[in-house]
Order: sequence, then C-alpha cells, then structure tokens
Amino acid sequence: MNTLIKSSEILKRNENYIPGGVVSLNRKSDPNICFTKGNGSRVWDVDGNEYIDYQAGFAASFLGHNDPDINQAVRETLERDAVLMGAGPTDLEGIFAEMFIRSVPTAESLQITTTGSEATYHAIRIARAATKKQHVIVMQGGYNGWHNDVACNVISSLADVGPRVSPGEYPFDSLSAGIPDVHKSLVHIINYNDLASVEYVVKRYDIACIILEPLLQNIGIVKPQPGYLEGLRKLADAHNFLLIFDEVKTGFRHALGGYQSICGVTPDLSTFGKAIANGFPLGVIAGKKKYMDYFVHPEKENRVLIAGTYNAFPLTTMAAIATLKKLASAEHDVYGHVNRLGAMLEEGLNSIFSETDQPYYLARQGSAYCLYLMDHAPADLHDILNNHDFALDKAYRLALIEKGIYNFPLPIKQGSISFAHTEKDIEITLDKTREVVSSLFKGVVVP
Ligand SMILES: Cc1ncc(COP(=O)(O)O)c(C=O)c1O
Repeated sequence: MNTLIKSSEILKRNENYIPGGVVSLNRKSDPNICFTKGNGSRVWDVDGNEYIDYQAGFAASFLGHNDPDINQAVRETLERDAVLMGAGPTDLEGIFAEMFIRSVPTAESLQITTTGSEATYHAIRIARAATKKQHVIVMQGGYNGWHNDVACNVISSLADVGPRVSPGEYPFDSLSAGIPDVHKSLVHIINYNDLASVEYVVKRYDIACIILEPLLQNIGIVKPQPGYLEGLRKLADAHNFLLIFDEVKTGFRHALGGYQSICGVTPDLSTFGKAIANGFPLGVIAGKKKYMDYFVHPEKENRVLIAGTYNAFPLTTMAAIATLKKLASAEHDVYGHVNRLGAMLEEGLNSIFSETDQPYYLARQGSAYCLYLMDHAPADLHDILNNHDFALDKAYRLALIEKGIYNFPLPIKQGSISFAHTEKDIEITLDKTREVVSSLFKGVVVP
C-alpha cells in the first residue's frame, strides 16, 4: 500500500478552512484516506491505492459506485435543462411516488426530502401532531439522524450509559452539545429486543412514537428476536402511539418493499434514504394516509410543516426512479446477486475463522454483514459492549485496509456488498482475509 502522503496533505489544508478538515465529522477516520474515485465495487485514493470497497458511502451505493444506468439517467435530466423548478409539482416526483408506493406495500402516500435525517425529523413531528403527545422512545445503539430528538446513544460506552437495566431506560448520551434539556427530557432510550422496557416507559410518559431501525444496522447487524417487532406493533396499538420504522439503511438494501416486507410487521410511518437513490441524496417519509395527511390538515393548528428548496430535486429524483427500475428488473436480479455474494462471503469467513480459537459470530442480512469478535449473535448494544473485542476488531480492519480491502476503520461498522461486486471480488477478499487472520489470530495457515 502506498503511504498516505497526499491524503494527509489534503486533510491538513482542509483544516485551515473546515473545522476538523472534513465536512461530516463521522467520516473522519484513522487512517485518514482521501478517496478520489469510485467505480463499481472499487474505490481509489489520492495516493494511488485501489480498494475493494465494503463501506459503500455508509451503505448508500447499493448498486455500486457510479452505476452507469443511474448516472446516465441523471445526465439526461441535466441535458433536458431540468435542474431546479422550485415552483409547482414536477412530473418526476409523481412518477417516483407511484413507483415507490407500488414497491412498499405499507406506504399509502409519501413526501420526499433530501436526507434521511429530515425524513426521521418529519416522521416524529407527525407522530406528535397526530397523538397530541410529546415523548419519544428510541433505541440504544440505533441511529436515526442528527436532530435534537435522536442524536444520542449510538456506540455509547458502558461508562456513559451504565450497566444493563430491564425494565428501564438509559441516560441520553448526547452526540452533540447544544441539544436543549427539554428535548433530552422528552426522549427515552431503551435497549433493543426488550419489550418490558417499552412497557415500563409507556406507563410513565405520554409516548407519541417509538422510532427504530427494525434491524439495528448502525452497530453492525443486530436482528429482532422472534415476536419483538410484533410486540411493538401491539404495544403501539394498545397505547395509542405510532410505530415508526427507520428504514434509511435497511430499506431498499434488503428488499424492494423494505425490511418491513420481510418481517411482515406494518409500521404507521417509515423513513427511507441511502440505497433508494444509489448515492444521490434523497429521503422519504411514507406510511398510512391518515398520518401523512397531517401535512395538508384542514385545520391550521393541526397542520405539519414540510418545506425545502431542494425537496425532490429533479436530478436526485431521477436517480431514484432509475434505481427503483433497476432494483425491480428481473433481468438484473439485483437481490438474487447480492444475496448469493453475501452467502459466499459468510461461508468463506466462517471457514477461515473456524480454524482459529477466536470466538466470533458472523451476522448477515442479505448484502449487509458484520463480523463480531464474540461467540454469539448480539441481542443489543450492551451485549456487544460486554463481549466484543473492540481493539482486535480495529486491528483487523486496519490490516485489511493495508491489503486493499476497505471496511470503515471503526469497530462494529456494518459491511455492505453492492450489486457491482463479483464472485472474484469475494474470492480476493477471502484470500486477503486469510492472510490477515493468519497474522492476527492463532491457528490459520495461508496455503
Ligand atoms: C438508520 C438511519 N437513519 C437515519 C440516518 C440519517 O440519514 P442522513 O445521513 O441521510 O441524514 C442514517 C444515516 O446513517 C441511518 O443510518
């Protein structure tokens, strides 16, 4: 691997003008790598290194970097001089909405934003308007965006949140200064897969909604235990609060109908982003019409504001239309392909790690995966904090990067396979992994 000299120079120069030198500080990493190009399954950095990429722009590039069909659709939109209309409806937003609603069975209507954070913001606001209640339940280890109600408790440390309690709730471990105390007092953080804690909180506060990734994908891959999501649905109905599935990460990555079409539980509202436009910025709030209609409520005091100069920006809306078309095409069989590669990677990693004495668990949902250095499938964040070897995970990721396999160098970050990955990519990844494992763990021999 070439030394990251130019990457360091760029960071240094940026630091003169941008606090931290990076515009989204969760992108900052050690090692600092400045990427300049992405194509298919590969990314290149400014120092001339090439990597097989499993970061996929925080899971957004589901078809692969710069998919030719999506980029062509965007190019044609540009050539039609259709960058920003900014007044009245556009044909593209209606075409997209119809395609989306045909894909996601629980969606009766939708609104379009630019980011996933805006989508979750609006979903919570609708829940408060519809229930006339203010308190919100979120998940320990879940991520739902950067705004005041949800910027808390992702990969919190045990020191910050304390040992496991059930039933009960955890402190608001803020991801940001500047969040008013009143917001913190309205947000209740509980462990995933713990229905007793939902009941505990619901008895004590007027809950407007629970918002969660139905499958936690910001602390690897943490799956719902049997009956958990169904239990949430029942509690929401019994106590008159909204069940919001944040599918920004799970959405179009696992199925055209979202993870909700796999788990079979119907949320009241759901939010989407990332894979829906293959790297172009677009978010969606969708769900039951009776809730979505709060955006046009006839009484002013009940109407929920939605506005945004760039909502349904034509270039990104066109990218989303082209992405939905490709995802639905039988000829491409996108889900068949990524699921096959996911299974191949899982089998290969299991084969390598089973030769070591290292406790491990490979969690996978389709094209998304995470290797935990602990001996069982995690149930929640506390389970991971108590059992996962974070230092070894970091060393493993760094060693893979040295060999041209890029997973984000932060322990328990999910890996993402794209439609552009090939069997050859997985074979190379497994060969390089075997080399890394043989130097970091006992028991594995490189043939
Ligand atoms: C589950 C989930 N919800 C919401 C968001 C926020 O989306 P955005 O970064 O587009 O604002 C993210 C981003 O990582 C996410 O993973």
